[in-house]
Amino acid sequence: MLRKNTFSLLESEVRSYPRNFPCMLDRARGTELVDVNGRRYLDFLAGAGSLNYGHNNPVLKSALIKYIERDGITHSLDLHTAAKERFIEAMWCAILKPRKLDYVIQFTGPTGTNAVEAAMKLARKITGRTNIITFTNGFHGVSLGALAATGNKHHRKASGVPLQGTTVMPYDGYLGANIDTVQYIERLLDDPSSGVDLPAAVILECVQGEGGLNVARAPWLRRLKAMCEARDILFIVDDIQAGCGRTGTFFSFEEAGIHPDIVTLSKSLSGYGLPMAVVLIKREFDVWKPGEHNGTFRGNNHAFVTAAAALEHYWQTSKFTDEIAAKGEHLRRRLQRMEGRFGPHIRDTRGRGMMRGITCVDPAKADEIGARAFADGLIIERCGPHDEVLKCLMPLTTPEAELDEGLDILEQAAETVFRVSKAFEARSPKGISANPAPARIAVIARSTGASASKSTGIVKPGKAAVTRASGKKSRGQNGQLSA
Ligand SMILES: Cc1ncc(COP(=O)(O)O)c(C=O)c1O
Repeated sequence: MLRKNTFSLLESEVRSYPRNFPCMLDRARGTELVDVNGRRYLDFLAGAGSLNYGHNNPVLKSALIKYIERDGITHSLDLHTAAKERFIEAMWCAILKPRKLDYVIQFTGPTGTNAVEAAMKLARKITGRTNIITFTNGFHGVSLGALAATGNKHHRKASGVPLQGTTVMPYDGYLGANIDTVQYIERLLDDPSSGVDLPAAVILECVQGEGGLNVARAPWLRRLKAMCEARDILFIVDDIQAGCGRTGTFFSFEEAGIHPDIVTLSKSLSGYGLPMAVVLIKREFDVWKPGEHNGTFRGNNHAFVTAAAALEHYWQTSKFTDEIAAKGEHLRRRLQRMEGRFGPHIRDTRGRGMMRGITCVDPAKADEIGARAFADGLIIERCGPHDEVLKCLMPLTTPEAELDEGLDILEQAAETVFRVSKAFEARSPKGISANPAPARIAVIARSTGASASKSTGIVKPGKAAVTRASGKKSRGQNGQLSA
C-alpha cells in the first residue's frame, strides 16, 4: 500500500527524473538497468554522466569490496588516508603528468556545484575582481554562486535572491557560425565605457551538456584563452560533465591544446556513481589559506578507491581513448543517418565523442520520442533551452551491441513519432541516400510486452507511455518542461 504512494506522499515535489522515467529501479550492471518487476532498460542517461564506466563496473566494484572488507576508512574529513594518497598518485601518473599539467588538487564538497563555487571564489580571491564571464546556455549547478553562472531560467527563477557577479556572453556559434564572439567580448572588455567590468575569470564548458550539446570549436577556445591571458583573466573549464573521457579525451579541452588555469571535475570522477568533486588549480594560483574554503564531506574514501581504480585501469594507455573514438564515430554516423531519414523534423546532429544527440525542430516531438523510447526500454534524457535535443550519454564502456540496441530503440521511436513512410523518405530533402547507413544498422521492430503496473508506475508501452505518468508539468535536471 505504502509503495504505491510512497514517493508522491512523502517525497518533495522537487523530484524530477522519476517524472520522465516512472519505474522503480532495483539492479544495474554496465549499461543495463533492471526494475523491481524484472524489466530491463538500457541506460543512455548514465546518472546524468556520472557513470562513464557503467553501473557496478567489476574492476571498480572489486577494489571497493576489498577496501570495505578490510575496514578501510569510509569518511575522513580531509585527513590524509592511504586511499586518498593512491587517488592523488593515480591522478598524477595517469592524467596530469602525461599531459604536462602542473595542477594541485583541491577536494571540495562532493557535488559539481561545490567545485564550481570553489573555483569562482578562488578566481575572485586571486584577482581581487568580482565579475565572472559566463556563457549563454551554460550550466554550472544550482547553488547560488554557480547558479549565477547558469543560464537556465527555470533554475535561476528559484534562487529567491538576485544572482550577481557574472556577465553572460555569447558562446561559440550562438550568433551563427560566422560570428566571432571572442571578438565581441574583446571589444566590450577593451572599451572602458562598455559597462562590462574586467572579470576575474571566464567559466565555460567546452561542450555544453545541459544547454544543448553545443560544441566550442578548438580555434575559438584558443582565441578565448589568448584573450584571457592578455588581460590577466583566469580561464576556468567546467569539465564536470564533458570530462573523464566523455568527449573522447580525459579532459574536453585537450583537443584545443590549451591549459586552463582552473578545472572542475565531478560526476564520473569516482567512476562508480559515488559523490566526489575536485578543483584542479595551476600551482601558482593556489592562494587558499588553510581551511579557508572547507566542508565536512571532502573525504569520501570509497570514491577515492573507485576513482583510483578507474584511472589505473582505463587511463594508463590509449586503449580506452581509441575505443571511445570508435564508438563516438559510430554514434555520430547513426545519428546522422536518423537526421537523413527524418529530414525536416530534425534540425541537426550535434556533440562530440560519446556526448551526442539530435535536435528536434519541435520540442514536443523530442518529448514524445523520449517517452516512447522509455516505453520500449531505453532511458534517454533531453537537453537544450527547449528540451529539444535528445541526448545520448550512455556509459563509455557500453558494448557495441547495446549501443546499437539502444539506438535502434531510439530510431524506432522517432519513426513512430514522425510516422515516417517510404514516400516521406523519398520526398525528404535529406533523403536516406544522402547519408549512407553504416554497415551494421538494422531497425528492429521491438516487442513491447512489458506489463503495466499501477503500483510501480510503469507506463504501458505504446499507450500511456507517450504521455507523462503524473500528468503534471515537470522538469528534468536541466529544467526543461515535459508535460
Ligand atoms: C557542466 C556542469 N557543471 C556543474 C554541474 C552541477 O553538478 P551537480 O549537479 O553535481 O551539482 C553540472 C550538472 O549537470 C554540469 O553538467
